[in-house]
Amino acid sequence: MDKLNRKAVIAGNWKMNKTATEAKVLISELIPAVKDATCDVVICTPYTTLATAVEMTKGTNIKVGAENVHYEKSGAFTGEISADMLLDLGVEYVVIGHSERRQYFGETDQTVNKRTVAALNAGLKVILCVGESLQQREEGVTEELVRMQTKIALRGVTAEQMANVIIAYEPVWAIGTGKTATSEQAQEVCAQIRKVVGELYGEAVAKSTTIQYGGSMNAKNAEELVAKPDVDGGLIGGASLKAADFAVIVAAASNG
Ligand code: 13P
Repeated sequence: MDKLNRKAVIAGNWKMNKTATEAKVLISELIPAVKDATCDVVICTPYTTLATAVEMTKGTNIKVGAENVHYEKSGAFTGEISADMLLDLGVEYVVIGHSERRQYFGETDQTVNKRTVAALNAGLKVILCVGESLQQREEGVTEELVRMQTKIALRGVTAEQMANVIIAYEPVWAIGTGKTATSEQAQEVCAQIRKVVGELYGEAVAKSTTIQYGGSMNAKNAEELVAKPDVDGGLIGGASLKAADFAVIVAAASNG
């Protein structure tokens, strides 16, 4: 029942794929393919593609997100992009705390928190990623780890701002590996995340927060995953680069 009160969101995370020229082809295929969605549809693209994506999706149901944002407003931070720069382009969403950034680019719970607060204060919507590694799952600390990541990331975020936060549960072992979490595993951890949100902000916020699953979600397994009571859509990597596959996932979340 609660699920009906929340908007399912299917977001593509393109990662470091597609030049702006290549993106034009994919976006022109995506627009008709997802036009009947009743869930929200977001594409998070590399910085170099954002202007093209915003321009091409004007007047459509596709929203555009970036894959990261810096926490300072401006200044001597060579190579970085601020929230205001994204907003000025017409970007609405930003992915923060993706495990690839944590793994390869020194992202910590503290920097995830700084980016989250800065993005929300500027007016962006945040897709906040949390999730355990295989070792952490095998050691039985998934719940503690995901609780900690969620709590630290949300430090200083107000209950009102939670309306602009989506949390994506992305088990690191399932990302790009073809090894999807079972729908039961996805449900279990998404429910734990919702519980933490409830502890921090109360039941009403917990019930209205969109919590996605991400990690090898594809056209075949999406329907079962998004049917789970606490799984409100998905953050899609590889399958978001194929319009036909992404459209099947969007359709599954539109029904789910
Ligand atoms: P894959 O769907 O390619 O496993 O990637 C998931 C992901 O990391 C989305 O952010």
